[in-house]
Amino acid sequence: MHESLIDADLLARRRQRFLEQLGGAAAVIPAAPLVTHHADVEHAFRQNSDFWYLTGFDEPGAVALFLPHRDDHPFVLFVEPKDPGAEVWNGFRWGCEGAVARFGADIAHPRAELAGRLGGYLEGAEGIAFRVGRHPEVEPLVLKAWARQLDRAPRHGQAALGLVAPCPLLHELRLRKSAEELERLREAARISAEAHELARQVARPGLNERQVQAVIEQHFLEQGARGPAYGSIVAGGDNACVLHYTANSAPLRDGDLLLIDAGCSLSDYYNGDITRTFPVNGRFSSEQRALYELVLAAQEAAVAVVAPGHTAEQVHDTAVRVLVEGLLDLGLLLGSIDSVIEQGAYRHLYMHRTGHWLGLDVHDVGAYRLGEHPVMLEPGMVLTVEPGLYVSDRLPVPEGQPAIEERWKGIGIRIEDDVAVTEHGRDVLTAAALKAPVAMER
Ligand code: GLY
Ligand code: MN
Ligand code: MN
Repeated sequence: MHESLIDADLLARRRQRFLEQLGGAAAVIPAAPLVTHHADVEHAFRQNSDFWYLTGFDEPGAVALFLPHRDDHPFVLFVEPKDPGAEVWNGFRWGCEGAVARFGADIAHPRAELAGRLGGYLEGAEGIAFRVGRHPEVEPLVLKAWARQLDRAPRHGQAALGLVAPCPLLHELRLRKSAEELERLREAARISAEAHELARQVARPGLNERQVQAVIEQHFLEQGARGPAYGSIVAGGDNACVLHYTANSAPLRDGDLLLIDAGCSLSDYYNGDITRTFPVNGRFSSEQRALYELVLAAQEAAVAVVAPGHTAEQVHDTAVRVLVEGLLDLGLLLGSIDSVIEQGAYRHLYMHRTGHWLGLDVHDVGAYRLGEHPVMLEPGMVLTVEPGLYVSDRLPVPEGQPAIEERWKGIGIRIEDDVAVTEHGRDVLTAAALKAPVAMER
Protein backbone atom coordinates (compact mmCIF):
# COMPACT_ATOMS: atom_id res chain seq x y z
CA MET A 1 0.00 0.00 0.00
CA HIS A 2 1.70 3.23 -1.05
CA GLU A 3 -1.00 5.50 0.24
CA SER A 4 -1.39 5.89 3.99
CA LEU A 5 -4.88 4.81 4.82
CA ILE A 6 -5.88 6.94 7.78
CA ASP A 7 -5.53 10.67 8.08
CA ALA A 8 -2.44 11.90 9.85
CA ASP A 9 -4.31 14.18 12.25
CA LEU A 10 -6.51 11.37 13.51
CA LEU A 11 -3.45 9.19 14.15
CA ALA A 12 -1.64 12.02 15.89
CA ARG A 13 -4.65 12.61 18.16
CA ARG A 14 -4.75 8.89 19.04
CA ARG A 15 -1.05 8.87 19.88
CA GLN A 16 -1.46 11.98 21.99
CA ARG A 17 -4.25 10.34 24.01
CA PHE A 18 -2.21 7.16 24.41
CA LEU A 19 0.86 9.11 25.55
CA GLU A 20 -1.25 10.95 28.11
CA GLN A 21 -2.68 7.69 29.42
CA LEU A 22 0.77 6.14 29.73
CA GLY A 23 1.75 8.65 32.39
CA GLY A 24 5.51 8.25 32.69
CA ALA A 25 5.77 4.72 31.29
CA ALA A 26 7.28 4.06 27.86
CA ALA A 27 5.39 1.71 25.55
CA VAL A 28 6.88 -0.76 23.08
CA ILE A 29 4.30 -1.78 20.46
CA PRO A 30 5.50 -4.22 17.76
CA ALA A 31 3.97 -4.64 14.31
CA ALA A 32 2.88 -8.10 13.16
CA PRO A 33 5.44 -10.37 11.49
CA LEU A 34 4.84 -12.21 8.23
CA VAL A 35 3.37 -15.63 9.01
CA THR A 36 4.36 -18.79 7.15
CA HIS A 37 1.57 -20.49 5.24
CA HIS A 38 3.59 -23.47 4.06
CA ALA A 39 7.19 -24.10 2.96
CA ASP A 40 8.57 -20.66 2.06
CA VAL A 41 5.16 -19.19 1.20
CA GLU A 42 3.66 -16.59 3.50
CA HIS A 43 0.09 -15.65 4.35
CA ALA A 44 -1.12 -12.28 3.12
CA PHE A 45 0.18 -9.71 5.59
CA ARG A 46 -2.18 -8.66 8.39
CA GLN A 47 -1.03 -5.80 10.58
CA ASN A 48 -1.29 -6.00 14.37
CA SER A 49 -4.35 -3.93 15.29
CA ASP A 50 -2.76 -2.14 18.27
CA PHE A 51 0.19 -1.10 16.13
CA TRP A 52 -2.11 -0.09 13.28
CA TYR A 53 -4.39 1.96 15.54
CA LEU A 54 -1.45 4.09 16.65
CA THR A 55 0.62 4.30 13.46
CA GLY A 56 -1.41 3.51 10.31
CA PHE A 57 1.84 1.85 9.14
CA ASP A 58 1.15 -1.30 7.14
CA GLU A 59 4.48 -3.09 6.98
CA PRO A 60 5.68 -6.17 8.87
CA GLY A 61 8.45 -6.27 11.41
CA ALA A 62 8.33 -2.63 12.58
CA VAL A 63 8.35 -1.55 16.23
CA ALA A 64 6.86 1.65 17.65
CA LEU A 65 8.12 3.31 20.84
CA PHE A 66 5.97 5.77 22.75
CA LEU A 67 8.12 7.82 25.09
CA PRO A 68 6.20 10.27 27.25
CA HIS A 69 9.43 11.05 29.09
CA ARG A 70 11.01 12.35 25.88
CA ASP A 71 9.13 15.54 25.02
CA ASP A 72 11.27 16.17 21.95
CA HIS A 73 10.73 12.75 20.37
CA PRO A 74 7.84 10.86 22.00
CA PHE A 75 7.12 8.71 18.89
CA VAL A 76 9.96 6.60 17.47
CA LEU A 77 9.58 4.00 14.73
CA PHE A 78 11.94 1.18 13.85
CA VAL A 79 11.19 0.00 10.29
CA GLU A 80 12.67 -2.11 7.52
CA PRO A 81 14.87 0.35 5.60
CA LYS A 82 14.60 1.04 1.89
CA ASP A 83 16.26 -1.79 -0.05
CA PRO A 84 15.73 -1.97 -3.83
CA GLY A 85 16.84 -5.63 -3.89
CA ALA A 86 14.24 -6.66 -1.30
CA GLU A 87 11.56 -4.36 -2.72
CA VAL A 88 11.85 -6.04 -6.13
CA TRP A 89 10.70 -9.26 -4.46
CA ASN A 90 8.36 -8.11 -1.73
CA GLY A 91 7.20 -4.65 -2.71
CA PHE A 92 7.45 -1.05 -1.64
CA ARG A 93 8.75 0.02 1.76
CA TRP A 94 8.43 3.48 3.25
CA GLY A 95 11.81 3.22 4.93
CA CYS A 96 13.03 5.56 7.67
CA GLU A 97 12.45 8.75 5.67
CA GLY A 98 8.88 7.77 4.86
CA ALA A 99 8.23 6.79 8.47
CA VAL A 100 9.05 10.37 9.50
CA ALA A 101 7.60 12.26 6.53
CA ARG A 102 4.37 10.27 6.04
CA PHE A 103 3.70 8.62 9.38
CA GLY A 104 4.65 11.36 11.79
CA ALA A 105 7.49 9.56 13.57
CA ASP A 106 9.76 12.00 15.39
CA ILE A 107 12.72 9.73 14.66
CA ALA A 108 12.97 6.50 12.62
CA HIS A 109 15.71 3.89 12.59
CA PRO A 110 16.32 0.63 10.71
CA ARG A 111 14.70 -2.28 12.54
CA ALA A 112 18.09 -3.98 12.88
CA GLU A 113 19.17 -1.19 15.25
CA LEU A 114 16.42 -1.86 17.80
CA ALA A 115 18.58 -4.12 19.98
CA GLY A 116 21.31 -1.47 20.27
CA ARG A 117 19.05 1.52 20.80
CA LEU A 118 16.12 0.29 22.88
CA GLY A 119 17.85 0.57 26.27
CA GLY A 120 18.82 4.18 25.63
CA TYR A 121 15.31 5.20 24.61
CA LEU A 122 13.77 3.56 27.66
CA GLU A 123 16.17 5.29 30.04
CA GLY A 124 14.36 7.72 32.29
CA ALA A 125 10.95 6.11 31.77
CA GLU A 126 8.98 5.30 34.90
CA GLY A 127 8.00 1.89 33.60
CA ILE A 128 7.75 -0.18 30.43
CA ALA A 129 4.41 -1.01 28.85
CA PHE A 130 4.84 -4.15 26.75
CA ARG A 131 2.62 -7.14 26.12
CA VAL A 132 4.62 -10.22 27.11
CA GLY A 133 3.90 -13.57 25.46
CA ARG A 134 2.92 -12.20 22.05
CA HIS A 135 6.04 -10.90 20.35
CA PRO A 136 8.80 -13.52 20.53
CA GLU A 137 11.28 -11.48 18.48
CA VAL A 138 10.94 -8.27 20.46
CA GLU A 139 10.36 -9.67 23.94
CA PRO A 140 14.00 -10.68 24.67
CA LEU A 141 15.13 -7.17 23.72
CA VAL A 142 12.62 -5.55 26.04
CA LEU A 143 13.50 -7.90 28.89
CA LYS A 144 17.20 -7.25 28.37
CA ALA A 145 16.68 -3.48 28.43
CA TRP A 146 14.54 -3.83 31.52
CA ALA A 147 17.11 -6.04 33.28
CA ARG A 148 19.84 -3.53 32.48
CA GLN A 149 17.82 -0.72 33.97
CA LEU A 150 17.11 -2.74 37.10
CA ASP A 151 20.84 -3.48 37.46
CA ARG A 152 21.70 0.17 37.15
CA ALA A 153 18.84 1.55 39.22
CA PRO A 154 20.59 1.48 42.62
CA ARG A 155 23.51 3.58 41.40
CA HIS A 156 21.39 5.98 39.36
CA GLY A 157 18.99 6.68 42.17
CA GLN A 158 16.04 5.57 40.08
CA ALA A 159 13.17 3.57 41.46
CA ALA A 160 12.94 0.02 40.11
CA LEU A 161 10.90 0.03 36.93
CA GLY A 162 7.73 -1.97 36.52
CA LEU A 163 6.80 -3.93 33.42
CA VAL A 164 3.11 -3.34 32.73
CA ALA A 165 0.66 -4.39 30.03
CA PRO A 166 -0.29 -1.63 27.56
CA CYS A 167 -3.55 -3.40 26.84
CA PRO A 168 -5.90 -1.89 29.40
CA LEU A 169 -5.02 1.67 28.34
CA LEU A 170 -4.90 1.07 24.62
CA HIS A 171 -7.86 -1.24 24.53
CA GLU A 172 -10.07 1.14 26.45
CA LEU A 173 -9.29 3.69 23.73
CA ARG A 174 -10.03 1.20 20.95
CA LEU A 175 -13.29 0.13 22.59
CA ARG A 176 -14.78 3.62 22.12
CA LYS A 177 -15.00 4.33 18.42
CA SER A 178 -14.61 7.84 17.01
CA ALA A 179 -16.98 9.21 14.37
CA GLU A 180 -14.39 8.33 11.70
CA GLU A 181 -14.18 4.75 12.91
CA LEU A 182 -17.96 4.40 13.00
CA GLU A 183 -18.03 5.52 9.35
CA ARG A 184 -15.57 2.78 8.45
CA LEU A 185 -17.53 0.16 10.36
CA ARG A 186 -20.64 1.36 8.54
CA GLU A 187 -18.82 0.82 5.22
CA ALA A 188 -17.70 -2.69 6.24
CA ALA A 189 -21.29 -3.41 7.27
CA ARG A 190 -22.64 -2.13 3.93
CA ILE A 191 -20.37 -4.36 1.84
CA SER A 192 -20.94 -7.36 4.10
CA ALA A 193 -24.73 -6.92 4.03
CA GLU A 194 -24.74 -6.65 0.23
CA ALA A 195 -22.77 -9.89 0.00
CA HIS A 196 -25.35 -11.69 2.13
CA GLU A 197 -28.15 -10.43 -0.09
CA LEU A 198 -26.29 -11.70 -3.18
CA ALA A 199 -25.64 -15.07 -1.55
CA ARG A 200 -29.30 -15.63 -0.82
CA GLN A 201 -30.15 -14.86 -4.44
CA VAL A 202 -27.77 -17.48 -5.84
CA ALA A 203 -28.08 -20.29 -3.29
CA ARG A 204 -30.07 -23.29 -4.50
CA PRO A 205 -30.02 -27.09 -4.12
CA GLY A 206 -27.06 -28.73 -5.85
CA LEU A 207 -24.72 -25.78 -5.57
CA ASN A 208 -21.67 -26.37 -3.38
CA GLU A 209 -21.17 -24.32 -0.20
CA ARG A 210 -17.90 -23.10 -1.70
CA GLN A 211 -19.64 -21.64 -4.72
CA VAL A 212 -21.72 -19.49 -2.40
CA GLN A 213 -18.54 -18.52 -0.53
CA ALA A 214 -17.10 -17.41 -3.90
CA VAL A 215 -20.03 -15.06 -4.53
CA ILE A 216 -19.63 -13.49 -1.09
CA GLU A 217 -15.89 -13.05 -1.23
CA GLN A 218 -15.96 -11.83 -4.84
CA HIS A 219 -18.24 -9.03 -3.69
CA PHE A 220 -15.87 -8.13 -0.87
CA LEU A 221 -12.97 -7.81 -3.30
CA GLU A 222 -14.97 -6.00 -5.97
CA GLN A 223 -15.97 -3.41 -3.39
CA GLY A 224 -12.35 -2.74 -2.44
CA ALA A 225 -12.20 -4.68 0.81
CA ARG A 226 -9.09 -6.74 1.54
CA GLY A 227 -11.23 -9.85 1.72
CA PRO A 228 -13.03 -11.80 4.42
CA ALA A 229 -12.53 -10.61 7.99
CA TYR A 230 -12.38 -14.25 9.16
CA GLY A 231 -12.85 -17.65 7.56
CA SER A 232 -16.30 -17.36 5.95
CA ILE A 233 -18.72 -19.95 7.29
CA VAL A 234 -21.05 -21.30 4.60
CA ALA A 235 -22.78 -24.20 6.29
CA GLY A 236 -25.67 -26.18 4.86
CA GLY A 237 -27.94 -28.27 7.11
CA ASP A 238 -26.21 -30.00 10.01
CA ASN A 239 -22.87 -28.32 9.18
CA ALA A 240 -24.38 -25.20 10.74
CA CYS A 241 -24.30 -26.94 14.12
CA VAL A 242 -20.47 -26.83 13.95
CA LEU A 243 -19.86 -23.30 15.18
CA HIS A 244 -16.51 -22.79 13.44
CA TYR A 245 -17.28 -24.79 10.28
CA THR A 246 -15.09 -23.41 7.50
CA ALA A 247 -14.61 -26.45 5.23
CA ASN A 248 -17.41 -25.07 3.02
CA SER A 249 -17.16 -28.16 0.82
CA ALA A 250 -20.58 -29.84 0.89
CA PRO A 251 -23.35 -29.64 -1.70
CA LEU A 252 -26.44 -27.69 -0.63
CA ARG A 253 -29.41 -29.99 -0.13
CA ASP A 254 -33.06 -29.45 -0.90
CA GLY A 255 -34.86 -29.10 2.44
CA ASP A 256 -31.83 -27.89 4.42
CA LEU A 257 -31.16 -24.46 5.85
CA LEU A 258 -28.03 -22.55 4.87
CA LEU A 259 -26.20 -20.60 7.58
CA ILE A 260 -23.75 -17.99 6.33
CA ASP A 261 -21.47 -16.15 8.76
CA ALA A 262 -19.31 -13.80 6.71
CA GLY A 263 -18.05 -10.24 6.81
CA CYS A 264 -15.39 -8.23 5.01
CA SER A 265 -12.26 -6.53 6.26
CA LEU A 266 -11.63 -3.09 4.74
CA SER A 267 -8.29 -1.79 3.51
CA ASP A 268 -7.85 -0.18 6.95
CA TYR A 269 -8.90 -3.37 8.73
CA TYR A 270 -12.33 -2.36 10.04
CA ASN A 271 -14.59 -5.41 9.95
CA GLY A 272 -18.12 -6.55 9.31
CA ASP A 273 -19.52 -9.70 10.95
CA ILE A 274 -22.95 -10.86 9.80
CA THR A 275 -24.81 -14.15 10.03
CA ARG A 276 -27.96 -14.97 8.12
CA THR A 277 -29.80 -18.29 7.80
CA PHE A 278 -32.37 -19.20 5.14
CA PRO A 279 -33.86 -22.26 3.42
CA VAL A 280 -31.84 -23.55 0.47
CA ASN A 281 -35.00 -24.26 -1.55
CA GLY A 282 -36.72 -20.99 -0.60
CA ARG A 283 -39.28 -22.53 1.79
CA PHE A 284 -39.00 -23.15 5.54
CA SER A 285 -40.29 -26.46 6.88
CA SER A 286 -42.57 -25.96 9.87
CA GLU A 287 -39.79 -26.95 12.30
CA GLN A 288 -37.29 -24.67 10.59
CA ARG A 289 -39.75 -21.80 10.62
CA ALA A 290 -40.58 -22.27 14.31
CA LEU A 291 -36.92 -22.18 15.31
CA TYR A 292 -36.10 -19.36 12.89
CA GLU A 293 -38.86 -17.19 14.31
CA LEU A 294 -37.66 -17.97 17.81
CA VAL A 295 -34.04 -17.03 17.09
CA LEU A 296 -35.23 -13.86 15.36
CA ALA A 297 -37.42 -12.93 18.33
CA ALA A 298 -34.46 -13.48 20.66
CA GLN A 299 -32.17 -11.46 18.42
CA GLU A 300 -34.57 -8.54 18.08
CA ALA A 301 -35.24 -8.49 21.82
CA ALA A 302 -31.50 -8.55 22.52
CA VAL A 303 -30.77 -5.80 19.98
CA ALA A 304 -33.43 -3.65 21.68
CA VAL A 305 -31.47 -3.84 24.93
CA VAL A 306 -28.39 -2.22 23.35
CA ALA A 307 -28.37 1.29 24.81
CA PRO A 308 -26.18 3.43 27.07
CA GLY A 309 -26.33 2.25 30.67
CA HIS A 310 -27.16 -1.34 29.78
CA THR A 311 -24.52 -4.07 29.60
CA ALA A 312 -23.47 -6.76 27.11
CA GLU A 313 -24.44 -9.22 29.82
CA GLN A 314 -28.02 -7.94 29.77
CA VAL A 315 -28.04 -8.33 25.98
CA HIS A 316 -27.02 -11.98 26.40
CA ASP A 317 -29.45 -12.64 29.24
CA THR A 318 -32.31 -11.21 27.19
CA ALA A 319 -31.55 -13.51 24.25
CA VAL A 320 -31.27 -16.55 26.53
CA ARG A 321 -34.60 -15.81 28.23
CA VAL A 322 -36.49 -15.50 24.93
CA LEU A 323 -34.86 -18.65 23.54
CA VAL A 324 -35.58 -20.70 26.66
CA GLU A 325 -39.18 -19.54 26.82
CA GLY A 326 -39.70 -20.52 23.16
CA LEU A 327 -37.94 -23.88 23.54
CA LEU A 328 -40.18 -24.69 26.51
CA ASP A 329 -43.24 -23.86 24.38
CA LEU A 330 -41.97 -26.12 21.58
CA GLY A 331 -41.29 -29.01 23.98
CA LEU A 332 -37.54 -28.98 23.31
CA LEU A 333 -36.96 -28.08 26.98
CA LEU A 334 -38.79 -28.95 30.17
CA GLY A 335 -39.14 -27.06 33.47
CA SER A 336 -39.53 -23.46 34.51
CA ILE A 337 -37.75 -20.66 32.66
CA ASP A 338 -35.76 -19.69 35.73
CA SER A 339 -34.65 -23.20 36.64
CA VAL A 340 -33.59 -23.99 33.06
CA ILE A 341 -31.59 -20.76 32.89
CA GLU A 342 -30.09 -21.23 36.33
CA GLN A 343 -28.97 -24.77 35.55
CA GLY A 344 -27.80 -23.90 32.03
CA ALA A 345 -30.02 -26.76 30.83
CA TYR A 346 -30.38 -25.07 27.42
CA ARG A 347 -26.67 -25.20 26.57
CA HIS A 348 -26.89 -28.31 24.37
CA LEU A 349 -28.98 -26.09 22.05
CA TYR A 350 -27.37 -22.66 22.59
CA MET A 351 -23.76 -22.93 23.74
CA HIS A 352 -22.12 -19.58 22.92
CA ARG A 353 -22.34 -16.00 24.11
CA THR A 354 -24.61 -13.55 22.30
CA GLY A 355 -21.97 -11.17 21.03
CA HIS A 356 -18.59 -9.48 21.21
CA TRP A 357 -17.03 -6.09 20.63
CA LEU A 358 -16.34 -5.33 16.96
CA GLY A 359 -13.70 -3.05 15.43
CA LEU A 360 -10.20 -3.48 14.03
CA ASP A 361 -10.36 -7.03 15.38
CA VAL A 362 -13.49 -9.05 14.69
CA HIS A 363 -13.50 -10.13 18.30
CA ASP A 364 -12.39 -6.69 19.28
CA VAL A 365 -10.46 -5.66 22.35
CA GLY A 366 -11.89 -4.14 25.50
CA ALA A 367 -12.98 -5.61 28.80
CA TYR A 368 -16.47 -7.04 29.26
CA ARG A 369 -16.14 -6.97 33.03
CA LEU A 370 -14.16 -4.80 35.40
CA GLY A 371 -13.89 -6.71 38.64
CA GLU A 372 -17.38 -7.54 39.79
CA HIS A 373 -19.07 -5.19 37.37
CA PRO A 374 -20.06 -5.76 33.77
CA VAL A 375 -18.95 -2.86 31.55
CA MET A 376 -21.73 -0.35 30.81
CA LEU A 377 -22.47 0.29 27.16
CA GLU A 378 -21.56 3.81 26.01
CA PRO A 379 -22.11 5.70 22.76
CA GLY A 380 -19.35 4.71 20.33
CA MET A 381 -19.07 1.12 21.44
CA VAL A 382 -19.90 -1.45 18.75
CA LEU A 383 -20.92 -5.03 19.40
CA THR A 384 -22.44 -7.95 17.58
CA VAL A 385 -25.74 -9.49 18.64
CA GLU A 386 -25.83 -13.09 17.47
CA PRO A 387 -28.01 -15.63 19.21
CA GLY A 388 -28.58 -19.01 17.61
CA LEU A 389 -29.94 -22.52 18.05
CA TYR A 390 -28.10 -25.66 17.02
CA VAL A 391 -30.00 -28.93 17.17
CA SER A 392 -27.81 -32.01 16.80
CA ASP A 393 -26.60 -35.08 18.69
CA ARG A 394 -23.15 -33.66 19.36
CA LEU A 395 -23.78 -32.66 22.98
CA PRO A 396 -25.56 -34.85 25.51
CA VAL A 397 -29.07 -33.82 26.52
CA PRO A 398 -28.87 -32.66 30.17
CA GLU A 399 -30.51 -34.85 32.77
CA GLY A 400 -34.19 -34.11 33.11
CA GLN A 401 -34.46 -32.60 29.62
CA PRO A 402 -36.34 -34.34 26.79
CA ALA A 403 -34.64 -36.42 24.09
CA ILE A 404 -34.67 -34.52 20.81
CA GLU A 405 -37.08 -35.78 18.16
CA GLU A 406 -35.51 -36.54 14.77
CA ARG A 407 -37.57 -33.87 13.03
CA TRP A 408 -35.61 -31.07 14.77
CA LYS A 409 -32.14 -32.44 14.11
CA GLY A 410 -29.80 -30.86 11.59
CA ILE A 411 -31.26 -27.41 12.12
CA GLY A 412 -28.63 -24.78 12.89
CA ILE A 413 -29.64 -21.13 12.93
CA ARG A 414 -27.82 -17.94 13.88
CA ILE A 415 -28.77 -14.34 13.18
CA GLU A 416 -26.03 -11.77 13.71
CA ASP A 417 -26.01 -8.00 13.35
CA ASP A 418 -23.41 -5.33 14.10
CA VAL A 419 -24.81 -2.71 16.43
CA ALA A 420 -23.38 0.68 17.42
CA VAL A 421 -24.41 2.18 20.73
CA THR A 422 -25.74 5.72 20.17
CA GLU A 423 -26.63 8.49 22.60
CA HIS A 424 -30.22 7.35 22.92
CA GLY A 425 -30.08 3.72 21.88
CA ARG A 426 -28.57 1.89 18.97
CA ASP A 427 -27.86 1.91 15.27
CA VAL A 428 -28.00 -1.49 13.54
CA LEU A 429 -25.18 -1.06 11.02
CA THR A 430 -26.08 -4.25 9.15
CA ALA A 431 -29.83 -3.64 8.77
CA ALA A 432 -29.53 -3.81 4.95
CA ALA A 433 -29.08 -7.58 5.27
CA LEU A 434 -32.70 -8.68 5.50
CA LYS A 435 -33.81 -11.14 8.16
CA ALA A 436 -37.62 -11.16 8.23
CA PRO A 437 -38.89 -14.72 7.58
CA VAL A 438 -40.79 -13.59 4.48
CA ALA A 439 -37.59 -12.14 3.01
CA MET A 440 -35.77 -15.46 3.57
CA GLU A 441 -38.28 -17.28 1.34
CA ARG A 442 -38.89 -17.09 -2.38
N1 GLY B 1 -17.68 -14.86 12.81
C1 GLY B 1 -17.19 -14.93 14.11
C2 GLY B 1 -18.22 -14.56 15.08
O1 GLY B 1 -19.36 -14.42 14.73
O2 GLY B 1 -17.94 -14.32 16.21
MN1 MN C 1 -19.59 -12.46 15.64
MN1 MN D 1 -20.01 -13.95 12.79
